[in-house]
Amino acid sequence: MTRTIKPLVAGNWKMNGLKADLAIAAAVAKGADAPLRQAVDLAICPPATLLFTLTASLIGSRIATGGQDCSAHASGAYTGEVSAQMLVDAGATYVIVGHSERRTLHGESNAQVKAKAEAALAEGLTPIVCVGETKDEREAGKALAVVKKQLRGSVPDGATAASLVVAYEPVWAIGTGLTPTPADVAEMHEAIRAELGPILGKATAAGVRLLYGGSVKPGNAAELMNVANVDGALVGGASLKAEDFLAIARACA
Ligand code: 13P
Repeated sequence: MTRTIKPLVAGNWKMNGLKADLAIAAAVAKGADAPLRQAVDLAICPPATLLFTLTASLIGSRIATGGQDCSAHASGAYTGEVSAQMLVDAGATYVIVGHSERRTLHGESNAQVKAKAEAALAEGLTPIVCVGETKDEREAGKALAVVKKQLRGSVPDGATAASLVVAYEPVWAIGTGLTPTPADVAEMHEAIRAELGPILGKATAAGVRLLYGGSVKPGNAAELMNVANVDGALVGGASLKAEDFLAIARACA
């Protein structure tokens, strides 16, 4: 498949990873040869506690890092929060916002996700804005409508193709081993790109990277990554194994 957009494969470690797991990042860096890094952008989003050290350990590898969330506020009395500026200070390039685990477990609304994405943009971080329907919503035939609404509510104003990533992660596919069919992914990603047009302008929308996430594994990566309008993957569980993460990245190259 000929790509016009350089794909991004990002690992979301979620709430996993201690100092000893820096070895995973080291193994990814060691295994990512020059042709792979030329063909695919790679990023690791570790827990905030590891971000600074992990980023420092990857200097020279051209593997980027990212946060898993950020505050919508710049600074101040927000106990427990991490600001976009702090993520930049720790070396991050990206930040995941609006992951379904945050939308569901922390009740984040589209407006909050948008505010976080705008806070990220203001600090020069690239937000990875996550959207996706639940199983019930898909079964009710509402998947496209749900995701379009999430996009309209959560995509930040003022993003460029280079400064925004959108990840389609069907909630029912996350951590379950289930994935949508390539045809369903194609339909959704085409709809996402079309929906971004009026929000960002058509030219910008055409260049925004659209990642698929949800049970991406070495065994299904080639099939999913070769779908039109899929410009990479947001990988959870498989990103904790260097070989699996690299195999997924190679499937995008
Ligand atoms: P899994 O790859 O473990 O299904 O997780 C996907 C995800 O939520 C990435 O953000």
